Amino acid sequence: MVIQRAIHGGQVYQLAKRLGRPVETLVDYSASMNPLGTSASVLKAMHHAVDECQHYPDPDSEELRARLSQEHGIAEEAILVGNGSVEIIRALPKALGLRHGLIVGPTFSEFERSLRLAGVATSSVDAVSAQRYAPPLESLLDVLKKWKRPLRLKGAVSNYAVFVCNPNSPTGRHISRRDFRHIISAVNRIGCWLIVDEAFIDWCPSHSLMPDLSRCPRLVILRSFTKFFSIPGIRLGYVVGASSVIQSIQAQLPPWSVNHVAQAAGLAALNDWRFRQRSLTFMQQERTRLLRQLRALPRLRVMTSQANFVMVEVSSQVVADTVVSRLQTQGVLVRDCQTFPGMMQPALRFAVRLRRDNHGLVQALKHILDDMKM
Ligand SMILES: Cc1ncc(COP(=O)(O)O)c(C=O)c1O
Repeated sequence: MVIQRAIHGGQVYQLAKRLGRPVETLVDYSASMNPLGTSASVLKAMHHAVDECQHYPDPDSEELRARLSQEHGIAEEAILVGNGSVEIIRALPKALGLRHGLIVGPTFSEFERSLRLAGVATSSVDAVSAQRYAPPLESLLDVLKKWKRPLRLKGAVSNYAVFVCNPNSPTGRHISRRDFRHIISAVNRIGCWLIVDEAFIDWCPSHSLMPDLSRCPRLVILRSFTKFFSIPGIRLGYVVGASSVIQSIQAQLPPWSVNHVAQAAGLAALNDWRFRQRSLTFMQQERTRLLRQLRALPRLRVMTSQANFVMVEVSSQVVADTVVSRLQTQGVLVRDCQTFPGMMQPALRFAVRLRRDNHGLVQALKHILDDMKM
């Protein structure tokens, strides 16, 4: 069976080629990066690191792991750095010896793809439009209750995993640490894995499960430098979990998968506290503004968000297709959510960008939606 390549946002090179325009002239709302861009200190560290590329990179990213250990108050042995968090997501099914993955959707398609590529069975519990995509906690806990007995009987407890993205993409909704306590209790009782993807958690750091690691031996947390530090082209992410788990994941990865420039970027990024604080303050204000402006437009149902993007439902897939294609002709990319597994309603996702860009997006949307009324 051939498993199709996933569709992701950020396809600027393809659009630039199609329009015959340079990449820098496009405006990308489809991949959600920090609107403040890459910080000056990260750029400087990367330039410096390029001069040192005549050596192999440190295969264990030791300096970066030491800094992450300090950042999260956890042992270095509990951390593994990867070539983007997606490299680690790919390695997880084999590393954990999974037989079943339950995905809390609609969400990032690489969980399902990675499981299927490894021949692992999947199922899902999905957030629904009627509840404005609030995470489906009750349904998840119900499934976990049902898992308990058969899993014990078959002795297969350790091969099942729950995949949760928090805050979730594309919905923007989050699960609070308090609500996670119920999931953690159920997972601890059953003895399955809990994989939490915190790729967007830097935008709402108080909801991270890092402080809960010691309470859940089978908790594995994925983190990414891509979004908050706006370095998608560099590829840098990491995973945190029990040291035995970290060793199993590492065994699945090629040597030197994290290059020297990426390691230097990660260190500089973590140390740039001013940029981190400025980014959070900016996002809180600008996201509120953008949500307000979008809510004033016709035919959009705007979801609340804890991340650096917002999702809006539209009345039909025709509307979604029209918005996507008309914006593309203007060199603007937005994310059509129909390719997210578990997404039942037509919807679009927009990154929160700088104020001027966001204003431009709202105006362009208004024109397109007004035209469609006629
Ligand atoms: C939820 C989620 N997790 C992980 C990733 C991959 O991140 P990285 O660039 O670290 O591989 C993405 C990228 O879009 C994502 O949306």
